[in-house]
Amino acid sequence: MSASQIPPILTNLTTGMLVGERIAESRRTVGDLVGYWSDPEAARQGGDALLYGTQTWMPAEDGVEGAILWGNTVLMPGSVGGEFFMTRGHWHEKLDRCEMCVTVSGSGLLVLMDESRNTWVEQMSPGSTHYVPGNLAHRTVNTGDEPLVFMCAWPADCGHNYGSILELGFGRRFFVGDQF
Ligand SMILES: [Fe+2]
Repeated sequence: MSASQIPPILTNLTTGMLVGERIAESRRTVGDLVGYWSDPEAARQGGDALLYGTQTWMPAEDGVEGAILWGNTVLMPGSVGGEFFMTRGHWHEKLDRCEMCVTVSGSGLLVLMDESRNTWVEQMSPGSTHYVPGNLAHRTVNTGDEPLVFMCAWPADCGHNYGSILELGFGRRFFVGDQF
């Protein structure tokens, strides 16, 4: 099949779920992110609890220059040692590669950090649409009591750097009871 013969898929605009061909799925548990939490021991005890799941429509392979990928994330509500459930977060390896996200349901925070570790948030609520410049690290945090569901589109060749987040984290953490 050539690039001009990619069949469309269905994006359920109520649930954010994708149905069709070339859709990759993944899931992460609280324990999978053990080194990312402020309280790793609490994360170990949380172990197998589902943290988030993703679906990614891959009309092209990861890494193809000029291609765009599309996907959802369902970030569950909850906390670990008082720290709200969050995604790992990453930098793009190519710092000029931007990303766009729209919230489907739930409420939370898009956390952004620049290369000087200045960290700020954008509020996520249904319909909120976010532009992530390529040179900012980004992570999402579920501060609500229902799943935070959002869709993103990103360049297939952006690359993902998780290592420095694991090592240094973001400039701010988000705990139950905090004001954002
Ligand atoms: Fe990204």
